[in-house]
Amino acid sequence: MKITVVGAGGNVGSTVAMTIAQRDFAKEVVAVDLEIKKDDKSFYPSRGRALDQWQTAPILNFDTRVKGTVSYEDTANSDICVITAGLPRRPGMSRDDLLSANMGIVRDVTEKLVKHSPNTIIVVVSNPLDLMTYVAWKTSGLPASRVVGMAGILDTARYRAFLAEELNLSPKDIQALILGGHGDSMVPLPRYTTISGIPVTHFISKDKLDAIIERTKTGGGELVGLMGTSAWYAPGTAAAQMVEAIALDQNRIFPCAAYLDGEFGLKDLYVGVPVLLGRDGVKKIIEIDLDEQEKALLNESADHVRKGLEDLQRLS
Ligand code: NAI
Ligand code: 2OP
Repeated sequence: MKITVVGAGGNVGSTVAMTIAQRDFAKEVVAVDLEIKKDDKSFYPSRGRALDQWQTAPILNFDTRVKGTVSYEDTANSDICVITAGLPRRPGMSRDDLLSANMGIVRDVTEKLVKHSPNTIIVVVSNPLDLMTYVAWKTSGLPASRVVGMAGILDTARYRAFLAEELNLSPKDIQALILGGHGDSMVPLPRYTTISGIPVTHFISKDKLDAIIERTKTGGGELVGLMGTSAWYAPGTAAAQMVEAIALDQNRIFPCAAYLDGEFGLKDLYVGVPVLLGRDGVKKIIEIDLDEQEKALLNESADHVRKGLEDLQRLS
């Protein structure tokens, strides 16, 4: 199993590479980034971070070989490629502000990846997530089932962590689902939130749950405000969890940005929905029942993604 991570000299990409290596299910992780020129010197962040990561292998007991590179030839025949290349969100920036810069980067990276790995599966992390996943799919020429975006695992992890903290319960026992675009219009579903099978409403008042849902929706921005750049540990481990599910054909059910062709009444866009994830990528989109209010919120979120797609077409 060969896995490539592009943008691996950066925060999210290096966390993806490190997590995959530690989980020890892959033969090789190829960590790609740019050569950075500064003060007449060249720096190679992906080579540096990969070397550092590989040197943890004797301590952490894994065999996965992590190799840093700036050349796409080294990525040839990758089973799975993760795209984290792009600009992160800075204070005051919305995810959509990143659109034009990251569209060019994701297009360029995707072309190079599929040239060397024409049958790969692509996991997109770069923001704005739903739009960049669409760009990667269009550019790649791959079936939509082989291009999937990471956001829902991160957003539900934040929601689960907030609930665990509020209720003083283990995050392991909290199951939850968030649909929609990766942005403030995401749709957390209290009706599909349970704690060891017990509806969350048994444990928490409506006001407190509403406050947690609000905090979840702006969870990315909260971290940008604290750090001056966006988060990487939870995003990176979330993407690695998707890679593991695909690599090991685990048939996990996760909320992911998937291409919709009529499911949930939505067409020709990538947006967060529950999917069955395994060796072929998105094996199935799981169309759960939504009540009128949930449907309205999902449609609103999809409208926001659709507006981004129109902006994207204008900028192309
Ligand atoms: P970062 O700046 O730490 O790393 C990005 C890396 O991409 C840099 O090392 C940069 O050199 C590299 N890069 C830029 N252009 C490239 C190209 N053409 N080819 C190869 N590498 C290139 O940023 P960070 O924090 O790692 O974020 C990466 C992306 O992930 C951002 O777009 C960010 O908004 C997004 N993100 C998405 C999340 C999600 O839930 N989907 C969560 C967190 C971040
Ligand atoms: C996050 O949610 C900014 O998408 C990034 O942390």
